[in-house]
Amino acid sequence: MQQFRPSRWRRLFMPCLLAVSCTAAQAQSVQVLHWWKSLSEQQAVNLLTTKLAQDNLQWRDGLVPSGSGVGASIVLKSRILAGNAPEAAQLNGVLVSEWAELGLLLDIDSVAQSGKWEKNLFPKVWNLIQVKNHVVAAPLGVHRINTLFYNKKIFSKLELEPPASWEEFDQLIPKLQQAGITPLAQSSEIWQVATLFETVLLSVSNPAFYQDVFVRKQPSAFMDARFAQALKRLRLLKKAMPNPVPDKLWMDLSRQLADGQAAMLIMGDWVKGELNALGQSTDVGFSCVAVPGTAAYHIYDVDTLVMLAKDNSKRSAQEKLAQWVVSPALQQEYNQVKGSIPVLRNADTGKMDSCARNAWKVFSSGTAAQVPSFAHRMATDEISRDAMMNEIHRFFMDDQMTVGEAQKRMATMVRALPKNKAGNDAQDINR
Ligand code: GAL
Repeated sequence: MQQFRPSRWRRLFMPCLLAVSCTAAQAQSVQVLHWWKSLSEQQAVNLLTTKLAQDNLQWRDGLVPSGSGVGASIVLKSRILAGNAPEAAQLNGVLVSEWAELGLLLDIDSVAQSGKWEKNLFPKVWNLIQVKNHVVAAPLGVHRINTLFYNKKIFSKLELEPPASWEEFDQLIPKLQQAGITPLAQSSEIWQVATLFETVLLSVSNPAFYQDVFVRKQPSAFMDARFAQALKRLRLLKKAMPNPVPDKLWMDLSRQLADGQAAMLIMGDWVKGELNALGQSTDVGFSCVAVPGTAAYHIYDVDTLVMLAKDNSKRSAQEKLAQWVVSPALQQEYNQVKGSIPVLRNADTGKMDSCARNAWKVFSSGTAAQVPSFAHRMATDEISRDAMMNEIHRFFMDDQMTVGEAQKRMATMVRALPKNKAGNDAQDINR
């Protein structure tokens, strides 16, 4: 019989014992604060959670159920002040630079370098995630804002075509109303009105004028005839909406479109993810086209995750998360669920549906087509955004306010706003 020798016993069994305890110790985790609460957004989060778990990284969910970026950013602020910051957070656009300049974000330079992000990402995305020559955010996907979704069944039953101009859009309104269908679903929430308005402004002008308004905030641009035209078009669009316009969440509007209560919806293409999640296949239950007058342009909203620089103890987990979200395998699946397009220039377009392929084609055509979303924080600082959004909303809600009055109010108000330093897109003058 073999004699028990402690050293041999240790050699045989200790690795197993260690492995058990090591796994527990090594199972790294990151808490991620975000605002994704809709069906498709939750599916996207679940996908991320599952993929990361396969690589021994636990995603601890930090959902702030506000349904938009404002609530999430307030929660993030208070958690940082309370010394209880999460390891990662969804922060988009100018907020990334605002937080980075306060020294609150961890750089992920080494991840970007080893993943060759500079070469692999769209240049626009690559520029967005850098602050003072450091990479401070991991990009997830690119959403297109100027998208018009329409219910295919309604359109084919009534023998209608999706509108290619605002005149065609106007002609659809009585036909849909006579059939008892709301032509255009819309919410009165401030950010949803701003999302519609930025698209409308582009539709009646061009990217250079759009940037005069939302990036450069030139008082003269607010007094321009094109700005007046955008306000008039916004007011005209109310004829296609329920009266009064309800204060609904965007996912409820998606459901109205899916259920056939509404025929069209103008919104970022996260709606596509939602419609798919509701069981509607692209080009079967619904389809999408660019909003009239904007087919050549892509108003973009890039989703990004930042890592909070608490101390270095979580750095390796945070870097792993950053590395994962940009990996080609995850990019393709995640963006399919989310409704966006990958941030990688060499993504496989063969796996995309018609909406994504079209968004991809326009976005990848270059900077002349790429227009930063004002409502989704790609164009200007937070103070200016809030102030301008409130004015647009006031005009939208108050039918008594004249177009000229709204123009004057805004032209006066923007003089007091900060000059744009945060918006990376301030330099992009697509003239
Ligand atoms: C956007 C965000 C999208 C989507 C949307 C609605 O700002 O970029 O990913 O979640 O809000 O929640």
